[in-house]
Amino acid sequence: MGWYQTAIPPTAPQTDLSGQTIVITGANTGLGFEAALQLLRLRASNLVLGVRSIRRGEDARLRLLADAEVRSVNPAAVIKVLQLDLIDYDSVVNYLSNALLTLLLLPHLSSTPATPIHKPTITWVGSMAQGFNSLAKLPEIPPSILARFSDPRKYSALTQYPNSKMFVAMFVRALGQHLPDSNVVVNNLCPGTVDTAADDKLPFYLRIPMNLNRRLRARTVEEGARTLVFASSVAGGETHGKYIANNEISQLAAYADTANGRLFSEQLWRETLQECASVDNRVKTLKWRD
Ligand SMILES: NC(=O)c1ccc[n+]([C@@H]2O[C@H](COP(=O)([O-])OP(=O)(O)OC[C@H]3O[C@@H](n4cnc5c(N)ncnc54)[C@H](OP(=O)(O)O)[C@@H]3O)[C@@H](O)[C@H]2O)c1
Repeated sequence: MGWYQTAIPPTAPQTDLSGQTIVITGANTGLGFEAALQLLRLRASNLVLGVRSIRRGEDARLRLLADAEVRSVNPAAVIKVLQLDLIDYDSVVNYLSNALLTLLLLPHLSSTPATPIHKPTITWVGSMAQGFNSLAKLPEIPPSILARFSDPRKYSALTQYPNSKMFVAMFVRALGQHLPDSNVVVNNLCPGTVDTAADDKLPFYLRIPMNLNRRLRARTVEEGARTLVFASSVAGGETHGKYIANNEISQLAAYADTANGRLFSEQLWRETLQECASVDNRVKTLKWRD
């Protein structure tokens, strides 16, 4: 990762998403909102905004529909607001509730026909912060990874976010290996450092350096959101199970490819399936490739 970030070009304006339905979680602000706007400007027909506050979601819906370009190129766009609080499922935030959502969406996507140029896609917003994970420092792989990383006594504000993004990358890679259905693409991207309000809830000792970093080198939200549009709507089946940075397939953090990292990853996959199945029986009916 260099100091200067690669410029992300605008999505080709001839990209035509008409007929497509796109669900975006965390869509009322930041990268999610801006991606929603760009997708509508590319003529996406139906947008579902998954938000934890219906009021903020409705406000976002009205702002999207009021955009002059959306009104001009996509006047019939339909936007629905659905309540979705990913913390409701009370565990490893940033990871487990999104894993459950992904697993429950898979059967729907499998039965959605691909178009000649696009397969049904689930895109996770991961991060290059996975590189700051602390997994290699564990004396051994814990008997229960999820219990270990949900334990408030072992919580570290410095490493929980990088660890959760490492989990995301490992889970998406495992889905790429175990999902038998080639009709569905699941990928994971890093938007780079982007000028959003993402740091506002951090403890002050982290907020100061993070804000400084953001002030000096962040992509604008518009530029950052192009990476979400690329991974979800432009990139193809070659990104299945992969991590994308700067709109290119990239390597996971080094730990993921060590012998221990691979064991960790496989255990995390099994535990995640088991945990999600304990929350929702439908997960038990999913079929996997060994
Ligand atoms: N910005 C960056 O530099 C950067 C870099 C790498 C990765 N990312 C990743 O990009 C994603 C979006 O980040 P952002 O920068 O756009 O952040 P943001 O501006 O803080 O927006 C976060 C969005 O997620 C929603 N959200 C938060 N907790 C939620 C929950 N429990 N359930 C449902 N929705 C929830 C927020 O809704 P409310 O308005 O209700 O809070 C908001 O819409 C995150 O996964 C982040 O880790 C960001």
